[in-house]
Amino acid sequence: MTQDELKQQVAAAALTHVPHGEIIGVGTGSTVNFFIDALAGIKDRIKGAVSSSERSTERMRAHGITVVDLNEVEKLSVYVDGADEIDPSGAMIKGGGGALTREKIIAEAAERFICIVDQSKLVPVLGKFPLPVEVVPMARELVTRRLRALGGDPRERSGYITDNGNLILDVHGLQIAQPRDFEARVNQIPGVVTVGLFALRGANVALIGTAEGVQRKDF
Ligand code: A5P
Repeated sequence: MTQDELKQQVAAAALTHVPHGEIIGVGTGSTVNFFIDALAGIKDRIKGAVSSSERSTERMRAHGITVVDLNEVEKLSVYVDGADEIDPSGAMIKGGGGALTREKIIAEAAERFICIVDQSKLVPVLGKFPLPVEVVPMARELVTRRLRALGGDPRERSGYITDNGNLILDVHGLQIAQPRDFEARVNQIPGVVTVGLFALRGANVALIGTAEGVQRKDF
């Protein structure tokens, strides 16, 4: 199976987690794109979706899925999103697509985070994938120095501005053995808007696309 077929398979499996008659949270990325396409087939089952990026909003609207402002939503049972890496505790690196801030907000608002990945995203320790950190532009050098002091090698994502008007530092060279602790430390650096480490609020369920079918892991 190709990687796209694995993503498609896992995206389809996530439909069983979509609650009837509710609004759901929808993430961003190539795996989520397959999920949005699959969701279009059952769009009458949901009231609408909260979106984590302009890209996902556009794709959902093109399918006729109603996109709702998070501030209008009282209850969000489920958030479906991908990840760049996921470890055995359900902690993830996210933000390869640059949507980490809105993703983290929706993940926090949701009761359950359903992570959809192909098996290449499973890692014993997070950090091989450079950790994205969204930063207020005037704090770029300050945050760079602080991230170096934490053992990383931050590099600005060239020519990239987030949906919120900020820049992204991709931090190379990390081995994040204590993700909750590391997330809290990066969160405390002034100028950091969001760190793409999702450990304090990790996944509840991972659906993993493999050549042998979709595997489910609960955390
Ligand atoms: C988007 O900002 C990311 O957090 C994505 O969820 C993550 O990069 C996974 O994307 P893919 O499904 O394209 O690998």
